[in-house]
Amino acid sequence: MQSDKTSVESLRPLWLLAELTYSCPLQCPYCSNPIRLGERSRELSTEDWLRVLAEARKLGAVQLGLSGGEPLLRKDLEIIVGEARRLGYYTNLLTSGMGMDEGRISALKEAGLDHIQVSFQADDPDLNNRLAGTDSHRHKMEVARLVKAYGYPMVLNVVMHRHNLDRMREILDMALALEADYVELANTQYYGWALANRDYLLPTRDQLQRAEAVAHDYQARYGDRMKIYFVVPDYFEGKPKPCMNGWGRIFLSVAPDGTALPCHAAADLPGLELPSVRDHSLEWIWQKSPDFNQFRGESWMQQPCSTCDERASCFGGCRCQAYLLTGEAAAADPACSKSPSHEVILQAVEHAAGLHCAPEPIMRNRRNVSRALQNEAPVRVRVECAPDSG
Ligand code: FES
Repeated sequence: MQSDKTSVESLRPLWLLAELTYSCPLQCPYCSNPIRLGERSRELSTEDWLRVLAEARKLGAVQLGLSGGEPLLRKDLEIIVGEARRLGYYTNLLTSGMGMDEGRISALKEAGLDHIQVSFQADDPDLNNRLAGTDSHRHKMEVARLVKAYGYPMVLNVVMHRHNLDRMREILDMALALEADYVELANTQYYGWALANRDYLLPTRDQLQRAEAVAHDYQARYGDRMKIYFVVPDYFEGKPKPCMNGWGRIFLSVAPDGTALPCHAAADLPGLELPSVRDHSLEWIWQKSPDFNQFRGESWMQQPCSTCDERASCFGGCRCQAYLLTGEAAAADPACSKSPSHEVILQAVEHAAGLHCAPEPIMRNRRNVSRALQNEAPVRVRVECAPDSG
C-alpha cells in the first residue's frame, strides 16, 4: 500500500493505456474521451508508439490496453500489437467491433494479440443503435462470434445507465447466447460526455437495485460458465471508488497526440501542464513530472481525507470528479458520504429521479465536438424540466 514514505522509484506503471485515436464511428453519449477531442492529424506516428511501448515496458508496464476512440481505425494496429508481443506485454484490444472482419482478426491473432473486449450498448438492436448513433448491432454480433471462433476468451462490455439497466436480463441472455466468458457491466462514470448527459443517463435507485438482483441471480445460476462483474456506482454507494488505484500508482495513459495522463480524464483538470511523450521520456514523465506527482501519496489531502481511516484504500477517490463537482481537484470526492460536498451527488440523483421529461442526449459527434472547440461547449449536465409532481 502506498504512503508518502513509498519512493516514486518503487512505483511501476503496470497498466499502460494507449489511446491510439479519438476517431470513432460511434457517438455514445457516455464516451470517456474528452469533449474537446484532438485533431486526427496530431496523432502519434507508428514509430512514436513503438518507442512509448518500449519505454513503458522498461519502467515495468506489463498490461497494455489498446483503446480509443476505435483503435481498429489505426491501420498500424497489427504492427503495434506485434511489437507489444515481442516486448512481452499482455495485450488487450478494447473495441466497439467496428472495423473488425475476418482478415483483421486473423492478422491480429498472427501478430500475437492476447485479448479482445467487445462493447455493446444494449441487447436490443434498436436501442443499441440509438445509443451508438450508428447502425452497429448486427456487426457487433458478427464480431463477437469471430472473437470466439478465433479462440479468444469472449469478453463483453456494456456501459449501464437509465436506458438499459431494465434490460439486464436480456443483456445477460445475449451474453450467454454468445458464449461470453466475462461480462463487464460498467456503470457510467460521470466525466466528459457522460457528465454533460448526466440527467439523460443517471438511473433511479430502484432501477439499480433491480438490475443488481438480476446480475446476482445470473451469477448464481451461470457463474461456472460466465463471470459477471457489476459494481454499484459511486453516486449510489456513499463511498468513493479508488480511482486508478491511486493517482500515479499503477496506471499511465497516453492520448492519441502523445499527452501522458495519470488517468484518461485528467485533461479536464486545471493547472496541469500534462507532459507529452514527444518532448519527454516516459521515465521522466512517470517519476519526475509535477503532474504525475501532484496527487501521489497523501500529502495533498485535505480534511476529511487526510485523517480518514479509509484513505489508504480509496486514495481520496477520484480527482477529476472532485474538481468537476466542487471546483477543487484536491477536495474529497463528493461521492464519499463524509465529503462536505456530498449533497451535490444526492441532489443530482434526486433531480434525475424526479424528471418526467425525457432529455435528448448530446451525442459525441463531429458537430458537438466542433461546437466545443469553438467554446460553445455543449455542456448541459442538468436538464430543467418540471420535476414530477407525483
Ligand atoms: Fe481522473 Fe478519477 S478519472 S482521477
